[in-house]
Amino acid sequence: MNFYTLITGASTGIGKYLAEDFARMGDNLVLVARSKDKLEALAGELRRSCGVEVHVCGQDLSEPGAASKVFEFCEQMGLAIDKLVNCAGFSIAGNIERMDEDAFVQMTSVNMVALALLIRRFLPAMLARRRGTVVNIASVAGFQGVPGMACYSASKAFVVNLTEALFMELQGTAIRVFAVCPGFIDTDDFFNRAGHDRSKIKVPVSSPQVVVKAVRQGLAGNAMVILPTFFDRLLINSQRFVPRKLVVLIGSFLAGAMEKR
Ligand SMILES: NC(=O)c1ccc[n+]([C@@H]2O[C@H](COP(=O)([O-])OP(=O)(O)OC[C@H]3O[C@@H](n4cnc5c(N)ncnc54)[C@H](OP(=O)(O)O)[C@@H]3O)[C@@H](O)[C@H]2O)c1
Repeated sequence: MNFYTLITGASTGIGKYLAEDFARMGDNLVLVARSKDKLEALAGELRRSCGVEVHVCGQDLSEPGAASKVFEFCEQMGLAIDKLVNCAGFSIAGNIERMDEDAFVQMTSVNMVALALLIRRFLPAMLARRRGTVVNIASVAGFQGVPGMACYSASKAFVVNLTEALFMELQGTAIRVFAVCPGFIDTDDFFNRAGHDRSKIKVPVSSPQVVVKAVRQGLAGNAMVILPTFFDRLLINSQRFVPRKLVVLIGSFLAGAMEKR
């Protein structure tokens, strides 16, 4: 039986780097995002350069029923998914009272609803085959509220908590789930879509390669949550010794996303 790695958000940024890496490792792929043209171009490139099978599923993950549509696409094509990489996601920066309501619903649908429902749909077959891994791309923003990115950080806290709970639930099965929680990563589309001024960020912005490396590390080990860089680990692990208000204040200063009221 052939197995496939399904990657959401593979059209640009971190997801595209992950698709290239999985293809180089010889995995057959199913690529999911809205930009079907970009996915087709990437699929062609990966088929040529890596000799792997690549299928493209153009799907808006903010639509109701999106996870079921992706699942049915795989069922109809007879594609058995043994790695699910939930990478699609985006941020909206700014004060909550000015936030566009539709953008908020789309963000929570992609970052939380679709991610959880994709796991819900693909997990039963993984359990039945006793083979499968789920990789969730969360963020350091999931460990504390980030002023100026309040709803985004809350959506990533959902991903971290969901991953931790599922990791324990799945002990004793052959299935693993882990989260990779990067700090700021150098992907232009992410900041442009969020409306987040990069010049105000006061922490190192890493290359998407650090996320690829962290995913590889996660696949090879048994971690539940991976903080990719030394700085990410220092930032998050030092929180336990610092009052919570100070943690949020420091996060606010470092992210530089808060607007004056
Ligand atoms: N960049 C950072 O600083 C950073 C830090 C920590 C965590 N992360 C997380 O890493 C992940 C990837 O971020 P990135 O920096 O690579 O951002 P990006 O370059 O903007 O890529 C986002 C990906 O998500 C897809 N996506 C967005 N909305 C979608 C929708 N409605 N339906 C289907 N796919 C959708 C996009 O594809 P289409 O536009 O083609 O649909 C794209 O492939 C996200 O979950 C993000 O929260 C990013």
